[in-house]
Amino acid sequence: MTSLRQPQNVLVTGGCGFIGSAFVRFLLTQPAFTGRVVNLDLLTYAANPDNVGSASASPRYLFVQADITDAAAVTQVCSQRAVDTIVHFAAESHVDRSIVGPGAFVQANIVGTYQLLEVVRSLPSIHFHHVSTDEVYGSLGATGLFSETTPYDPSSPYSASKAASDHLVRAYARTYGLSTTLSNCSNNYGPYQFPEKLIPLMIMNLCEGKPLPVYGTGANVRDWLYVDDHVEAIWTIVLRGRRGETYNIGGEAEWANLALLHKLIEVVARATGLDTAALKRQITFVTDRPGHDARYAINCSKLKSELGWTQRHNIESGLLETVRWYLDNPEWVSRVKSGAYRNWLDLNYGRRD
Ligand SMILES: NC(=O)c1ccc[n+]([C@@H]2O[C@H](COP(=O)([O-])OP(=O)(O)OC[C@H]3O[C@@H](n4cnc5c(N)ncnc54)[C@H](O)[C@@H]3O)[C@@H](O)[C@H]2O)c1
Repeated sequence: MTSLRQPQNVLVTGGCGFIGSAFVRFLLTQPAFTGRVVNLDLLTYAANPDNVGSASASPRYLFVQADITDAAAVTQVCSQRAVDTIVHFAAESHVDRSIVGPGAFVQANIVGTYQLLEVVRSLPSIHFHHVSTDEVYGSLGATGLFSETTPYDPSSPYSASKAASDHLVRAYARTYGLSTTLSNCSNNYGPYQFPEKLIPLMIMNLCEGKPLPVYGTGANVRDWLYVDDHVEAIWTIVLRGRRGETYNIGGEAEWANLALLHKLIEVVARATGLDTAALKRQITFVTDRPGHDARYAINCSKLKSELGWTQRHNIESGLLETVRWYLDNPEWVSRVKSGAYRNWLDLNYGRRD
């Protein structure tokens, strides 16, 4: 068993994205963590520096705009700031974009992770935690769960690029003796999620009376985890995870897309007073995504039994907090909708608002 790590200076890559920013906010409110957080982010279309919230005012927080593929820049930051831990979130993360343009995913997710591993190889006292996805395992039938030993079988350029990055992390640990941990997590939802993803897209379209695009028949099943539960799991692994090990993280909350949308409609109707039946009429079925995995479901018993983590939110409480956050933060919503989001919707659904 690895003894407790005691990170002092943590480099977070992609800390202006959805999950990375939740991690930054979480870390700076942990009483047991007194160190510094360096947020290294390229600020792609998916980033929003506002996402770190009040953490940005902390004297223990530093933002650096840089590309993870620029090993010299990352090395300089790690050396200057005495970084002892890297938690690697930065990635191109949207499956639909990977189908339209896989090159950016190869570059950010594979080359980017390779360059970070090269940095750690030259500074081997750094512990490297790699944040990955359950999509590397491919698709399940009606039964069964992904475990840490499920063979990789990615379906999209996104999941293939994440699978390649996972393999690089394990190979660098074995070949060069780096200190690494890795986590594969199911679908996240919660505050600050860029509105091209399913749940925020649906919340916004519900509130604005717009169509709710559902792929195929809406039968694809996903496991959903509230983002704060994910970042707590990552920190648990960083502190106590066994060196070289992989841990699956999941919500143990399997929902078919259409059933999830019905649940979300109930929550939105309750929070806004809008009419449930009218909201349901906004649902429109659109052509299925190529290579769309049928079902993902996660067995996270290793993380639970070995490290004592458990989810704090179920789907009801998580969706309610998420809907309330989007309703309470119209400025954040209008800022992100002003640029990239609008272009993306136009590209994919031919919308003109
Ligand atoms: N969102 C999910 O449901 C989910 C589930 C499991 C795992 N993951 C993994 O978690 C990580 C974070 O996902 P997310 O949803 O927060 O992503 P996101 O798209 O919201 O954020 C990604 C961040 O990475 C930054 N970035 C991208 N390329 C970069 C580069 N070359 N250099 C530096 N920064 C760069 C972006 O600017 C952005 O801030 C990803 O590795 C993803 O694969 C996501």
